[in-house]
Amino acid sequence: MVSLDQVVEDAKRDFDGAADSAALEDAKARYLGKSGILTERLKSLGALDPEARKAAGAEINQVKSAVEAALNARRQALADAVLQTRLSAEAIDVTMPGRGQDSGSLHPVMRTWERVEQIFRSVGFDVADGPEIENDWFNFTALNSPENHPARSMQDTFYVEGVDEQNKPLLLRTHTSPMQVRYASAHVAKYAKDAKDGVMPPIKVIAPGRTYRVDSDATHSPMFNQVEGLWIAENVSFADLKGVYTDFLKTFFETDAIDVRFRPSYFPFTEPSAEIDMAFGSGKLAGRWLEISGAGQVHPTVLRNMGLDPERYIGFAFGSGLERLTMLRYGIDDLRLFFENDIRFLSQFPA
Ligand code: PHE
Repeated sequence: MVSLDQVVEDAKRDFDGAADSAALEDAKARYLGKSGILTERLKSLGALDPEARKAAGAEINQVKSAVEAALNARRQALADAVLQTRLSAEAIDVTMPGRGQDSGSLHPVMRTWERVEQIFRSVGFDVADGPEIENDWFNFTALNSPENHPARSMQDTFYVEGVDEQNKPLLLRTHTSPMQVRYASAHVAKYAKDAKDGVMPPIKVIAPGRTYRVDSDATHSPMFNQVEGLWIAENVSFADLKGVYTDFLKTFFETDAIDVRFRPSYFPFTEPSAEIDMAFGSGKLAGRWLEISGAGQVHPTVLRNMGLDPERYIGFAFGSGLERLTMLRYGIDDLRLFFENDIRFLSQFPA
């Protein structure tokens, strides 16, 4: 039989060798369990006479306390180790530089929007805003769009539930051109009665805003932004349109090396109508004609619908895509990038 001193030493060695609490509990059972070494020794006391039993019992109990102390010490050590590992895993390095608060920036299309406003304001244009849910009158009829115009079809236009006071359908505006009539009519209502000799201050406005069409691919989005331009006075000519728009493009793209051409086209609300094309003098797109805007001289019927006398007033209008301008300015070739909200794309346009 091993000596009691040896038992304490063996127990200490076994406990210290236990790598985790499960192994430690196994080791504990070998000494203090139901059939553990010390338990067996206590049971064997019964065979001794009372005097010897007392002395031996005291000795075994002392050893038992020593073993229990060793067990508790190891338990504590293992628990400390577990805590240490957790603490170092979850440690916070207070000397590390902060992650900071990223400040956002304007969406590239909104930059264009603001830039366009600023440029046109600088040459005396007002900036107007109007509803995205339009009625038949402003979006089509007032703009001289015939009843059978394709833009009126369900396939091209988002109609919304409900009708206006004339019982005509409501829709998401398909262009910013309704703002021509809204703004001009309000202008007439405001100035007509005070007009000296019937002459009103000129109408000179741009109206940027969201527009909607049933269209979706790399160069078309169901929601896109346009900017409408309108200048009406007693003698505004096509030359003024050409001058204003060419200057705008040169300022917007920050280069004088831009060619502009007016290509005959058709819009129900302008006559004559034109497509404005531009070509860069240098860079990736140099020499290629790019369609940038619809334009034209405001149609006499539209002037009448605005409350203006077409014998007296004349003017021009244009409508350009803000996404288009943005794509050309930054060399972006897929329109969908504007609407995906991918931070890798957006962060390329810091404040
Ligand atoms: N509204 C036309 C479009 O969306 C553009 C345009 C505006 C054309 C003003 C002429 C005058 O295509």
